[in-house]
Amino acid sequence: MSRTQIAPSILSADFTRLGAAAEAVAGDADWLHVDVMDGHFVPNLTLGLPVVAGLAKATSLPLDCHLMIEEPDRWAVRYAEAGAASVTIHAEAARAPVRTARDLRAGGTRVGLGLNPATPVDGYADVLGEIDMLLLMTVEPGFGGQQFLEFVLNKVRRARSLVSAAELDVWIEVDGGVDHETVARCAEAGADVFVAGSAVYGADDPAAAVRELRERADRASRS
Ligand code: DX5
Ligand code: ZN
Repeated sequence: MSRTQIAPSILSADFTRLGAAAEAVAGDADWLHVDVMDGHFVPNLTLGLPVVAGLAKATSLPLDCHLMIEEPDRWAVRYAEAGAASVTIHAEAARAPVRTARDLRAGGTRVGLGLNPATPVDGYADVLGEIDMLLLMTVEPGFGGQQFLEFVLNKVRRARSLVSAAELDVWIEVDGGVDHETVARCAEAGADVFVAGSAVYGADDPAAAVRELRERADRASRS
């Protein structure tokens, strides 16, 4: 399994000071998670290409762009061109996920496939070779600060067995309600990339919160 990686979500940061929010975790985090929401795929609207392009210039952290939008096939490469190092499209919205994944990879961008809590992972076993990461939503997408859905842990376990059986280096990212307490259960179940919004930006010291999440995940994945 690959190493623990922490991806603070700027959804919970101060949107008037995104550069500073990125800077606050730049020494400790592995990625900056950027939630793009279009008000259609999810009932919330956040930010788009110009903000991603600005953030890419403002931070040394690689951007993990999570597209919660309709028509991701049309937009994914544009986010890569704007500077995202990883682009996640949702299985529920993509019409041609394999073509989009290949287009992203052709440009050197990592590809994530996102699954909502009610979307089973089993149907995606055959496409694991086309992607670099599975993003398993541990809340319904749309908002930060929601309660972690315990039942998704079974899906994390199944995803980890599918990835191991295929002998692929596909990362498993959990997103939603990940905090200093739930992070350990996610790591035990086989997740290796942890998105945390409110647990990082709601803390007095975001960098210390990132370190704490990493320690707890490392400890749990060793046990
Ligand atoms: C929710 C977003 C998450 C969100 C997580 O739809 O995809 O990335 O920022 O926020 P927390 O960690 O507060 O649940
Ligand atoms: Zn997200």
